[in-house]
Amino acid sequence: VHPTAVRRPHAITVQSENTAYTDEHITSKFFNRGAEVKLTEGQYLVTPTVQEYQFQTKRAISKTGLLMIGVGGNNGSTLCATILANRHNITWHTKQGIQQPNYIGSLLRASTVSLGQDATGADVHVPISDVLPMVHPNDLVLGGWDISGVTLDKAMQRAQVLDYDLQRQVAPHMALLGKPLPSIYYPDFIAANQEARADNLIPGEDKQAHLEHIRADIRRLKAENGLDRAVVFWTANTERYADIIPGINDTADNLLAAIRASHSEVSPSTIFAVAAILEGEPFVNGAPQNTFVPGVIELAERQKSFIGGDDLKSGQTKLKSVLAEFLVNAGIKPLSIASYNHLGNNDGHNLSAERQFKSKEISKSSVVDDMVNANRLLYKAPEAGAKGKDGKDAKGEHPDHVVVIKYVPAVGDSKRAIDEYYSEIFCGGRSTINIFNECEDSLLATPLILDLAILTELLTRVQYRKVGTDDEFKPLYSVLSLLSYMLKAPLVKPGTEVINSLNRQRNALESFLKACVGLEGSSDLLLETRIW
Ligand code: NAI
Repeated sequence: VHPTAVRRPHAITVQSENTAYTDEHITSKFFNRGAEVKLTEGQYLVTPTVQEYQFQTKRAISKTGLLMIGVGGNNGSTLCATILANRHNITWHTKQGIQQPNYIGSLLRASTVSLGQDATGADVHVPISDVLPMVHPNDLVLGGWDISGVTLDKAMQRAQVLDYDLQRQVAPHMALLGKPLPSIYYPDFIAANQEARADNLIPGEDKQAHLEHIRADIRRLKAENGLDRAVVFWTANTERYADIIPGINDTADNLLAAIRASHSEVSPSTIFAVAAILEGEPFVNGAPQNTFVPGVIELAERQKSFIGGDDLKSGQTKLKSVLAEFLVNAGIKPLSIASYNHLGNNDGHNLSAERQFKSKEISKSSVVDDMVNANRLLYKAPEAGAKGKDGKDAKGEHPDHVVVIKYVPAVGDSKRAIDEYYSEIFCGGRSTINIFNECEDSLLATPLILDLAILTELLTRVQYRKVGTDDEFKPLYSVLSLLSYMLKAPLVKPGTEVINSLNRQRNALESFLKACVGLEGSSDLLLETRIW
């Protein structure tokens, strides 16, 4: 038996007047400290601010379903097979020896945070998943939809991701998951090259009927499996962008009317998102398209439902969000970032079509914006009121940034990515960093789906109260931007800044989880090591 499979977490009890435990809840006090800055007569006037909050986390973990759209794809089938391998403790032979299942690559289950120091001054680290009660991936109930009706054992075979000896042993368990539920297929939204797969469809063209069908599926899956929570997760093909059309998808009511009228710009992913929202279940978008048109966001706000996205951040972009920040924060000026990838799986095939590639290009392209905007010593700010060619506010100086994706069937799921960072250094010098990254795409993406589903479930159990303003606890804001660490183009509350820096995303998550048990976020000040 693999040791991680039987490890029981040590319960964490915070002994402080700021933290209270009941059988039902953990309640904590949190002081949100910031500073308000005003530029007046040539000087910055900075006023420290503090606001007291309370967090209340329900301790009972929901029985949670992970309902994937695209469950028969590489990510979906790999996720099901690896959970089953973990659950049934299946070990398998590879040419290196015996391999045991694990959750490496999951931020929650395979990375740690420091709780503080022991008597000797050494940091005490615990898995992030121990900070608050979270669903264990082995306990997720699996299910979902696919336009391809291949059973999940065959879908795993088709994906060509897992070692044969694992496939062989896990296949009977996968076969029990059966065939994905029929799904919605609007050919205009995904590449034409996917058509041959589309043999498991909800009939008709009535989008309202499709919405009701998916809502009924969610309700039925919940009832049949006794679920308290169903995280609905898009891991289906990347769709083209939907046009944002005033009167059609710009508000919640317009979108609902557009669905009733079967308007052509309503995508399958938007129908799924609306279905989940109306069922009060969270929806996460693991692909880059703009599922969350303004009408979806407004609907989620109105229904107090949760949404998160967009696009899993598995390889190249994750590294970019670290490297670009490292360079800019080191005072070095990237002049260009050129990214090239090729891959040979079905995702790559779909992305070889122009309009689907465009969605990916957009989601990959804004990842350095916040680092650049934060350093106006290196990059000139836009002139006040200046407009760009598109009529929107000008961006200011920015490194050149291109993204190329090519489909090379031979390499299958093993994506290759080459990135060149070309930077200006001291007194006119130049530095070039080249990264060649070869990764098994679905084995990087699968743990991210797990983290997203598990965190989403947790965030549905956390409530907050602004002390002095709110009498009652209330749920978090609908757009779960705390999921940003796993997402390439994080969706945030409209009007707020997107944080792409991976370190800042992780710190935010760690600080939040700790705040919920009444602990301060990570402090790297370590003052006692710097003073007498
Ligand atoms: P895949 O092509 O193997 O699987 C997608 C599945 O979705 C297919 O089985 C397809 O039949 C199904 N599908 C398409 N339209 C559907 C619909 N309307 N309803 C239900 N099912 C539908 O792709 P893979 O590799 O699993 O990736 C899935 C998504 O995740 C893609 O959009 C990809 O861009 C995104 N993604 C993947 C990453 C990775 O590293 N694998 C990283 C970032 C994003």
